[in-house]
Amino acid sequence: MDLQNNPYRKDFPLLMEQEVVYLDSSATSQRPSCVLEAEQEFYKTANANPLRGLYELSMKATEEVEHSRNIVKEFLHAKESCEIIFTRNATESLNLVAYSYGLTHLKAGDEIIVSIMEHHSNMLPWQMVAKQTGAIIKYLECDFDGTITQKHLDDVFSERTKLVAVAHVSNVFGRINPVETIISMAHERGAVVVLDCAQSAPHMPIDVQSLDADFVAFSGHKLLAPMGIGVLYGKKVLLEAMPPFLVGGEMIESVTIDGARYAELPYKFEAGTGNAGGAVALGKAITYLQSIGFEQIMEREHALTTFALEQLKEVKGVHVLGSDRGEEHCGILTFTLDGVHPHDVSSLLDLDHIAVRAGHHCAQPLMDYLKVSSTTRASIAFYNTKDDIERFIESLKKVRRIMGYEQ
Ligand code: ALA
Repeated sequence: MDLQNNPYRKDFPLLMEQEVVYLDSSATSQRPSCVLEAEQEFYKTANANPLRGLYELSMKATEEVEHSRNIVKEFLHAKESCEIIFTRNATESLNLVAYSYGLTHLKAGDEIIVSIMEHHSNMLPWQMVAKQTGAIIKYLECDFDGTITQKHLDDVFSERTKLVAVAHVSNVFGRINPVETIISMAHERGAVVVLDCAQSAPHMPIDVQSLDADFVAFSGHKLLAPMGIGVLYGKKVLLEAMPPFLVGGEMIESVTIDGARYAELPYKFEAGTGNAGGAVALGKAITYLQSIGFEQIMEREHALTTFALEQLKEVKGVHVLGSDRGEEHCGILTFTLDGVHPHDVSSLLDLDHIAVRAGHHCAQPLMDYLKVSSTTRASIAFYNTKDDIERFIESLKKVRRIMGYEQ
């Protein structure tokens, strides 16, 4: 594969116009022109409040949002489009499940399993639920390279397990977690699983039916779409039994001064005017990814990540978290550099226009578990090139020199 000449890079205006080696796609991706244009086109040609108006323009807006919902439904291979709820982001999707499902279905003594590697967005909502209901959180541990073994699972599952919150792919290790096993162990005990797919949806196909997933959350902004649009997938039977998360405009059948009858799915969970332009652009982002094909995307990302990992291993003082194999990183390379604080690593790389993330990556309990206070993370997407990786490695070697270390 030609990793130098990237046929997709030209689709990303920011990468073409700015001097930046963008290695922070796990925080937010770049956006191709077709997605930016789709959002603008919505506001230029179909701008009216979806669902509210009985006139042509509003109906066009509704049609466009529903078309996008259908694209997301096909993307996740959901059974019905009413199982797709538009939210602001994965965090809001996960909070929706916690407030609406967690607070109403869990009680004192029930057990919630949360993996130690969860992003705060799939941990804090469950801490809140545990506090308010008296449920108990059991943390699912992992090996120091991020592997969750059968033993780790056996240690936490019990007959009292009612809910499991786990990332499909960790935003620190980049490793794919054994979600099939976790889902089947949970279902054997009548528990539901909340999958945080923020880091997997941009990189691999997800089939909610073959996974038998209960809830799946992801953000549009990591998947080439604008910020402020996200998705919650939930099994219809579960969503139907849940009360609304937010109440207000356009999520009702009827309202009296004494109360309301709520709307059918998915509108019961979409109170207020949502990000219609963002939803339309998310549909376009998915269509764009599908036009490239996940096989091609994964092949390119695996090759770039393997190359970067091999190069990183050559830099003295670097320790990469997670697997020793590039294809087990989903583009995420989190590392420490002996004697240099990650904030300094990031600031010095920035002098060479290299964008990486430094800190705890919203996974502080994992940092504590691994006994590191913070790390640097380079995250790769299919629009990166071999040149990006080479410039990153050269600059990292320079960081060591600047800080007074030998090569
Ligand atoms: N959740 C994003 C990350 O991991 C912001 O960087």
